[in-house]
Amino acid sequence: MASNKNMLVLPGDGIGPEVMGVVMNVVDWMDKRRAVSFDIQEDLVGGAAIDANGAPVTDATVEKAMNADAVLLGAVGGPKWDNLDFSKKPERGLLRLRKDMDLYANLRPAICFKALVSASTLKPEIVEGLNIMIVRELTGGVYFGEPRGIEDLGGGIRRGINTQVYTTPEIQRVARVAFELARKRNGKVCSAEKANVMESGVLWREEVQKQHDDGFEDVELTHMYADNCAMQLVRNPKQFDVIVTDNLFGDMLSDEAAMLTGSLGMLPSASLGDVDETGRRKAMFEPVHGSAPDIAGQNMANPLATLLSFAMALRYSFDLGDDADLIEQAVENVLATGKRTADIAEAGTAPISTTAMSEALITELDKMAA
Ligand code: IPM
Ligand code: MG
Repeated sequence: MASNKNMLVLPGDGIGPEVMGVVMNVVDWMDKRRAVSFDIQEDLVGGAAIDANGAPVTDATVEKAMNADAVLLGAVGGPKWDNLDFSKKPERGLLRLRKDMDLYANLRPAICFKALVSASTLKPEIVEGLNIMIVRELTGGVYFGEPRGIEDLGGGIRRGINTQVYTTPEIQRVARVAFELARKRNGKVCSAEKANVMESGVLWREEVQKQHDDGFEDVELTHMYADNCAMQLVRNPKQFDVIVTDNLFGDMLSDEAAMLTGSLGMLPSASLGDVDETGRRKAMFEPVHGSAPDIAGQNMANPLATLLSFAMALRYSFDLGDDADLIEQAVENVLATGKRTADIAEAGTAPISTTAMSEALITELDKMAA
């Protein structure tokens, strides 16, 4: 029977297919044990798509992504494709999906699981109980701004150009997402930019403040320069609830926030667009980590960021909050037993493999659902 829950799965490159395999095991488990089934289509993105089709994503794949209720993506990139022309690199596939689907709000929650407090490089009291949400603008800024390129100025001199640019609607819509999220959390938003050196930062600050004053007065808003925000994230991360920031600062601040949680292998993300006339919100879910070519194919990658991204899909795209809770709790329980992949293993303990982590999760889910 068709389930009406259409998910496009794009495992991608490097550890992508391995970590996605774990999610597919959980999808099978949900089908058998929770009677929740998905119509899943699988397709290629990144280097895998370049090898098969000559482009990092095809029009047909983009079309499928547009029509899916949710897209689940593994990771893209690797040394094999590093020397390709810029417009043909694996990363362009990911960026095209984000742009064409207009996924302007990228939610990157950094939660420090109790069992992982000691896996962080920061002192336990700094990260224990940490739960912050970075809202990164995802379809604008220097990632997409024009003009861009590398120019030959002659005489052996070249010039590289990228443009940081934001319009007021682009800032307003992502600010609204941040304020709405804060209302369901601890009611605080910190907006990060460089208004001290960039006009686009001045505009960002003014527009975020205007959105706040126009209907979100109940949310506490502060502004911070992005460099200070980077420093405050390691000094006292628990001062934050929601951080809203632009595409490039968000890229950097979210990697930094990931390490507060113990490992980049733990951080999921959701990229959301607006709700359309049929009530559907275009959405893509992906781990914050990359394709990790150094450990790909060795059955040692941490699948939890991708599994937690799937949990976010259940919550944000399929309105299955209970199932999302169940998966998140299973992750927490497995970690509490001390079973860890290499990136989060405690000193002196043997790490487990990706597939062993998958088995541990299924066993835990069985136990919880019994
Ligand atoms: C991320 C990644 C991507 C980005 C790369 C792979 C294009 O670092 O999702 O944070 O820079 O946005
Ligand atoms: Mg990044």
